[in-house]
Amino acid sequence: MSPERITKRAVFLDQDEIPTSWYNIQADLPEPLPPPLDPSTLKPLSSPEPLFRLFAKELVAQEVSTERWIKIPEEVLEAYRWLPRPTPLMRARRLEEYLRTPARIYYKWEGVSPAGSHKPNTALAQAYYNKKEGTERLVTETGAGQWGSALAMSGAYFGIPVRVYMVAASYRQKPGRKIMMETWGAEVFSSPSENTKFGRSLRDKDPNDPGSLGIAISEALEDTLTDEKARYCLGSVLNHVLMHQTVVGLETKKQLELLDVKPDVMAGNIGGGSNFSGFCLPFVADKINKKVEIDFVACESKAVPHTTRGKYTYDFGDTAGMTPLLKMLTLGRNYKNPPIHAGGLRYHGMAPIVSYLINKGHMRSVAYSQTEVFEAGTIFARTEGIIPAPESCHEIKFVIDEAIRCKQTGEKKNIVFNNSGHALLDLAAYDAFLSKRLEDWEPTNIEYPAFVS
Ligand SMILES: Cc1ncc(COP(=O)(O)O)c(C=O)c1O
Repeated sequence: MSPERITKRAVFLDQDEIPTSWYNIQADLPEPLPPPLDPSTLKPLSSPEPLFRLFAKELVAQEVSTERWIKIPEEVLEAYRWLPRPTPLMRARRLEEYLRTPARIYYKWEGVSPAGSHKPNTALAQAYYNKKEGTERLVTETGAGQWGSALAMSGAYFGIPVRVYMVAASYRQKPGRKIMMETWGAEVFSSPSENTKFGRSLRDKDPNDPGSLGIAISEALEDTLTDEKARYCLGSVLNHVLMHQTVVGLETKKQLELLDVKPDVMAGNIGGGSNFSGFCLPFVADKINKKVEIDFVACESKAVPHTTRGKYTYDFGDTAGMTPLLKMLTLGRNYKNPPIHAGGLRYHGMAPIVSYLINKGHMRSVAYSQTEVFEAGTIFARTEGIIPAPESCHEIKFVIDEAIRCKQTGEKKNIVFNNSGHALLDLAAYDAFLSKRLEDWEPTNIEYPAFVS
């Protein structure tokens, strides 16, 4: 590391400092995660075999692996260098000065990828394994459009066609995302669509159904199951997805060590849990083993309070009930997600790993309304220059509150957060905020379905 790469504003790593293995937290949990259940027998899945029809075999092996380190293939490392990775760790000095806080604020900046977020870290890996195993078409869903964009770009990189079911609410709010995916060569359908039996059944009931991530997942699964040569890709929730994202946290660890900074608080937003996990998991084992005292804070929307008001139980990952049952914090697969602008946070459940760690008290979560998070995002844009994605505004709201709290108590905390993406295709959301048209939603009563256990 040459000294000029630690600047007043950022810490940059060399390309040969990219982590060469992903970190698998399953090796360091005090007990195995509760197993997925077969939906037909409600017994633990006896073998991962049924998943091979949906996912590339190597990804299924990673899903159930308890190896601590999984080597990143050279082709994926090459793709990471191309993105480019490593991404910078930034110091938010102007935000600190604005808040007049004694706390130091750092953020990992994932918005530098061509797709605009952290999502390519797993999209490239998933496209690579599928290409290697002879998959002829990738099928997926997208909420905010960030994941669909990442997979569309990764399909173009590795030369595999991609089909995306995009949640109707986002499809209408963000035409730019659709154009972006199509420019990279993907096919994009507004979900619920006419393309699947499940989509048609919902459109019959309500032609203007805003859709949800759970519905779009059901459509993508149905599509995959009708084409032997197609495989499904998921942008969050599953263990292997969270594991691919640990390049973010592993780089952050190295960057903080170079600065000789120990994090007191680490924050991120949670849609399905992938950016927050990728950022925090490489630090979590030390907390479980009582070697560090980091406060891991997951930030979500009050409109979709999956961890602050969800139940820790077995539920389906999709709305139609096609996936194995996962033990997770959930609002129920039929939860009506209000059309908030942070489309990536509109998911009824939460990654089993994050759900487990919150349930055991190793992490905590907080929830905010959309007006207050855009207020925080605007302060960030005016001090740091970057216009953060609506999802990322959630942890920025938390960070600002925490830094103000430090001002009151005089604590010189190191607050580190994952800035998961930019909002340059979400400007309509900022327009709604600036012209005071944003509405806040919060469910009064949540009708939980009868869960399995
Ligand atoms: C920029 C950005 N941040 C965060 C998320 C939330 O997803 P996850 O919890 O998987 O990181 C999304 C999802 O689309 C996103 O686009």
